[in-house]
Amino acid sequence: MYAAFLEGVTREYVLKGETVRALRGVDLAVPEGDYVAIMGASGSGKSTLLNLLGCLDRPTKGRILLGKDDVTSLDDWHLSEIRATRIGFVFQSYNLIPQLTVIENIEVPLFYQNNHRVNQAESRQRCIHLAEMVGLKERLNHRPTQLSGGQQQRVAIARSLVNDPYFILADEPTGNLDSVTTNEILELLDKLNDEGRTIILVTHEDDVGARSRRVVRLRDGLIESDHRRLPIPDTARRRAALQK
Ligand SMILES: Nc1ncnc2c1ncn2[C@@H]1O[C@H](COP(=O)(O)OP(=O)(O)OP(=O)(O)O)[C@@H](O)[C@H]1O
Ligand SMILES: [Mg+2]
Repeated sequence: MYAAFLEGVTREYVLKGETVRALRGVDLAVPEGDYVAIMGASGSGKSTLLNLLGCLDRPTKGRILLGKDDVTSLDDWHLSEIRATRIGFVFQSYNLIPQLTVIENIEVPLFYQNNHRVNQAESRQRCIHLAEMVGLKERLNHRPTQLSGGQQQRVAIARSLVNDPYFILADEPTGNLDSVTTNEILELLDKLNDEGRTIILVTHEDDVGARSRRVVRLRDGLIESDHRRLPIPDTARRRAALQK
């Protein structure tokens, strides 16, 4: 199954009677387990594409499938449901809640699920496990201001995983970090992907893009090139790794 499948996706904005064609017919299939870097010049359509993948927006034309869900024309309520339960977001600016501890921040997405009641003890256990996985075992009760930028981004990555998403959507995740910390975060993303997580990342930095399995370049709202650097680990191995 594809984590994301886009067919003929167009997104037009109408601004003072003028139509801006931000995406002009994008076909993109992201298999489970892939790690895609989306690159391209300013204005090429990267954020527009990311917003569509993140169910923050709807296409003007075309079709978008995420996992088994056709999200092309869902209403706002259902889009927010998909966002809250099936997509992990990582932003350049971390977007943590300052009043909450590390463990509470990781738990946040669980409270935005519309329908599903989660077992509190179970969910707490899951969050502790995720915090350990990103190397924050000793920091569970710290607040964001007591953490370095890299540690805050680790919290955001753990938070992005809490709902077992179709994919992690990362928008310039290392944009605010120094080169050493950038490398630590990229190693963490490598590890998650090796374990079978699908990652879609927007970056303008060539060395960040070079860590992915596949580089998709946009130009004027179209895919200019789609270059696979590394194969996707096979599904059986991926499933087994995820179940560990
Ligand atoms: N809400 C909007 N209304 C009108 N035009 C828009 C809107 N959002 C984006 N655009 C236009 O769509 C095109 C693509 O924009 P987009 O933000 O996707 O580019 P980008 O690749 O993310 O650029 P950057 O690297 O600067 O973030 C641009 O021409 C932009 O001006
Ligand atoms: Mg952008």
